[in-house]
Amino acid sequence: MSPLKNDRFLRALKREPVDCTPVWLMRQAGRYLPEYRATRAAAGSFLGMAKNPEIACEVTLQPLRRFDLDAAILFSDILTVPDAMGLGLYFVEGEGPKFERTIRSAAEAQKLGVPDMETELRYVMDAVRLIRRELDGQVPLIGFSGSPWTLACYMVEGGGSKDFARIKAMALNEPKALHHLLSVNTDAVIAYLAAQRAAGAQALQVFDTWGGVLSPAMYREFSLPYLTRIAQELQRGEGADRTPLILFGKGNAAHLQALAASGTEGVGVDWLIELGDARHRAGANVALQGNLDPATLYGSPESIRIQVRAALDSYAEGNGGSREGHVFNLGHGMSPDMNPDHVKVLVDAVHEFSTR
Ligand code: CP3
Repeated sequence: MSPLKNDRFLRALKREPVDCTPVWLMRQAGRYLPEYRATRAAAGSFLGMAKNPEIACEVTLQPLRRFDLDAAILFSDILTVPDAMGLGLYFVEGEGPKFERTIRSAAEAQKLGVPDMETELRYVMDAVRLIRRELDGQVPLIGFSGSPWTLACYMVEGGGSKDFARIKAMALNEPKALHHLLSVNTDAVIAYLAAQRAAGAQALQVFDTWGGVLSPAMYREFSLPYLTRIAQELQRGEGADRTPLILFGKGNAAHLQALAASGTEGVGVDWLIELGDARHRAGANVALQGNLDPATLYGSPESIRIQVRAALDSYAEGNGGSREGHVFNLGHGMSPDMNPDHVKVLVDAVHEFSTR
């Protein structure tokens, strides 16, 4: 395997000095790129792309050909895991993900098991291996998973939700059944991330997209303990060999201290908190990732540059004047109607304004 030519992202996660702040964007591969839309039209569907390692590799690399990004992220989806557990994932155009079967009772939760990573999820591991080979050391590859809670949201609701009524009712009425589901999900997430690491992923991110819909007490009961178990139990090597973990959560500002204490290397935050403030709350022992409002990309190039500078400065201000320990990103994923030219402005501004 070729040595890494750009290790800024991994160095920032270790809170080591960097020549400038590394940047990647959640959902950097996607429908906002015309070349993605062309590949998708040829492949027929999103799942058809994700389940084909050659196509997954191609779309992973597409944003790196246009932008000076410091990391690649595996093209896949968090819902591959419940799909492999037998729930039957499908996508309805314009409605997002759906499951043929849902988990709403203790009996249904009892039947779930951890899928086998090298058979049922082999297509994901094959994609990781292929992407590593094709990247040829250009930048590190990020593997990922959904959080136990966020996966459970889709498994119980049967798809996306506005109010999370079913899973919140389950938390109130059948907490034991939900805890069982979360526990199986945690075992699956740990196995899934370990398998991606073994296949070549050089950093790992957990998306707790829906942790922020929980009250603080409910978050401490149904999301935080499982994120902590992942940070504690996921074997990721020692010293220079260590594969860093990032716990990203929407709406996690109230929990940064607890997340920083989980044993993770990095915490990803959304745009509802300033980075300097996030640094104070998280303490000095984790790297922070984030956090521009994705809607910043709808602004003019000049306004994007102003927002990039403000986020970099807020981080440094909260970090004793240093830029160390910061991975630049959006506070959530990109949308299909964003302008690729604006992405270039953002990425270049991060490097320009943070160069030592
Ligand atoms: O960041 C990346 O570029 C890597 C790829 C990635 C995708 N999904 C590709 C994708 C990642 C990391 C995800 C994670 C994911 N998937 C999350 C957590 C992150 C987040 O954004 O909160 C969630 C909640 C999902 C579930 C999911 N999958 C949703 C809600 C959707 C959108 C449905 C829609 O029509 O907008 C998907 C589909 C999906 N996953 C797309 C992509 C590029 C759109 C695919 C398409 O229609 O071509």
